[in-house]
Amino acid sequence: MKVLITGATGTIGSAILRHCLQEPSITSIVALSRRALPQDISSPKLSTILVSDFANYDAALLSKIASADAAIWAMGTTDANHEVNVIYPHTFFTTFLDARKNSEHRSKRFRYIRINGAFTVSDQDRSLWFFSEPRKLHGMSEARTLELGKQYRDVCQTFVVKPGGVATSGAGVMECAGKLFGDGAVIGAETLGAFVADLVVHGEEEEGAIFNKRMVEKGSALLKGNK
Ligand SMILES: NC(=O)c1ccc[n+]([C@@H]2O[C@H](COP(=O)([O-])OP(=O)(O)OC[C@H]3O[C@@H](n4cnc5c(N)ncnc54)[C@H](OP(=O)(O)O)[C@@H]3O)[C@@H](O)[C@H]2O)c1
Repeated sequence: MKVLITGATGTIGSAILRHCLQEPSITSIVALSRRALPQDISSPKLSTILVSDFANYDAALLSKIASADAAIWAMGTTDANHEVNVIYPHTFFTTFLDARKNSEHRSKRFRYIRINGAFTVSDQDRSLWFFSEPRKLHGMSEARTLELGKQYRDVCQTFVVKPGGVATSGAGVMECAGKLFGDGAVIGAETLGAFVADLVVHGEEEEGAIFNKRMVEKGSALLKGNK
């Protein structure tokens, strides 16, 4: 299986990438990145394509990646950057799938996984006490991804993964705290990485949004070697 990933230099993307590299059924991973990946993440399975503009994909690049089976979109910012959080993921989605429809790879249904967040709000008129602008922007963008997922349903399975706060250390303690404050609150980066690497290979019964609780349960079981 060939998998594309963006955001692989980031906290979440790098955790997902490490778990994907351990998945035997993933034979090739192509990171689309604006800069080279750190040297400590290397594998014969992994290659990087440097992309200068994530709002434009030329025919040469599209033909290099058309044979992919899935993409993990882990690029994003926590602020209200419209270009990175709205334009980039959707331009990739529509440009890539439209090009793929006309390629020899069209018979395979693609799998697109977008990383978003648990605290997004799609209602643009709702009054919010904290981080109003980024939460609404991410909520609007997520709604758009799910809408596009429906439009492209015949050629693509679409998932929006909605982690709470992502803990890079002390994840076990943080996840216990998360249970105290509610299952949506926190997930360890390794748990999330294990969950998404499994999702990209196996999918889930139901397409659409996936919430923190499900990811903590399944990801923890995967880390314990108990699928
Ligand atoms: N961390 C959390 O607790 C958390 C929780 C829930 C949801 N999220 C969401 O998950 C996403 C990723 O979060 P993260 O914590 O992994 O963020 P991060 O560590 O800051 O990583 C962001 C990634 O996106 C890339 N990126 C950002 N701006 C870009 C641009 N203009 N062009 C190309 N690449 C760009 C970065 O590339 P460079 O390395 O080149 O900058 C990096 O690979 C975000 O949308 C965030 O809102 C995060």
